[in-house]
Amino acid sequence: MRLKDKVAIITGSTSGMGRATAELFAREGAKVVVTGRNEERAQEVVGKIKSEGFEATYVIADMLNLDSLKKIVDTAVNNYGTVDILFNNAGLLSVAPIEKLTLDEWERVFKVNVTAPLYLTQLVVPIMNAKGKGVIINTSSVAGAHAHHGNAAYVSSKHAIAGLTKSMAWELGPEIRVNAILPGAIMTAMVDSVGGEAAVKHLIEGSPLKKAGQPEEIARAALFLCTDDSSFVTGQLIRVDGGIDI
Ligand SMILES: NC(=O)c1ccc[n+]([C@@H]2O[C@H](COP(=O)([O-])OP(=O)(O)OC[C@H]3O[C@@H](n4cnc5c(N)ncnc54)[C@H](OP(=O)(O)O)[C@@H]3O)[C@@H](O)[C@H]2O)c1
Repeated sequence: MRLKDKVAIITGSTSGMGRATAELFAREGAKVVVTGRNEERAQEVVGKIKSEGFEATYVIADMLNLDSLKKIVDTAVNNYGTVDILFNNAGLLSVAPIEKLTLDEWERVFKVNVTAPLYLTQLVVPIMNAKGKGVIINTSSVAGAHAHHGNAAYVSSKHAIAGLTKSMAWELGPEIRVNAILPGAIMTAMVDSVGGEAAVKHLIEGSPLKKAGQPEEIARAALFLCTDDSSFVTGQLIRVDGGIDI
C-alpha cells in the first residue's frame, strides 16, 4: 500500500495508461478521481476499482472546457478532503501536415495537452502548499524530445509540456515535486486510432527492447514518481520508451 490514503487526480483515466494508473494507484491505497468525457467507461473503471475493494469516484470533464476542470478538484476535496497527486495524463493526438494544420486544431491540441495541465496545476497548488507536500506528473512523449513528420501540433505541444514541467519544478518546489513521463509506443486506443502496432513498427524495430509498451508499464513509472522512492527526483523528463532514440 505505497499510496495509502493519498488522494490522486488522474486525467484521461477512462482509457489506456490513465486507466492502468488509476487501477494501480487504487490497489496501492490511493483514493482516485477518474476523469474523462466518456461516462460509460468512467463508470466501468470506478466499478472495477470498487469491486476489488478499493476507492474511486469519477468526474466527467472535457479538457477543452477549462471551467469544467474546477469540478474535478472540487470533487476530490469534497469527497476525500484534499489532493496529494495530480497526474496530467489526458492527451489529444493530432496528425496533419503543417500546410493543412488549421489554427483551430492547433489551439485544441494545445488546450488539452498544455493549457489544461497548467490550469489544473494552478487549482491544486494552494491545496498542496497548505499541506507542504504534493506530486505532479505531466505527460509529454518521445514526440516531446524529437520531431516526427506530420504531427507538428502534437510535437510542439509535447515539447511545451516538457518545458512547462521544468518551470513548474523550479517554481513549485520545495513543497511540490513535478516530473514528466515521456512514453514511447504504448499499446492504447491512441495508437489503435492511427493503425495499431503496424503504425509504430519502425519505433519497435529501432529500439533495444524490440517491443511496444503496455499501459501498466507507464503506471509503474508513475507510481515510482508519486512515492518517496523518488523523493530526490524533480524537474525530470523520464522516458519510458523501450530505449528508442538512444
Ligand atoms: N499511446 C502512446 O503511444 C503514447 C505515446 C506518447 C505519449 N502518449 C500520451 O499519453 C497520454 C495518454 O494517452 P493513451 O495512449 O493512454 O491514450 P488513450 O487510451 O486514447 O486515452 C486518452 C485519455 O485521455 C482522455 N481525453 C482525451 N481528450 C480529452 C478531452 N478533451 N477531455 C478530457 N479527457 C480527454 C480520454 O478520455 P475520454 O475519451 O473519456 O474523454 C482518455 O481517457 C496522452 O497524453 C498521450 O498524448 C501516448
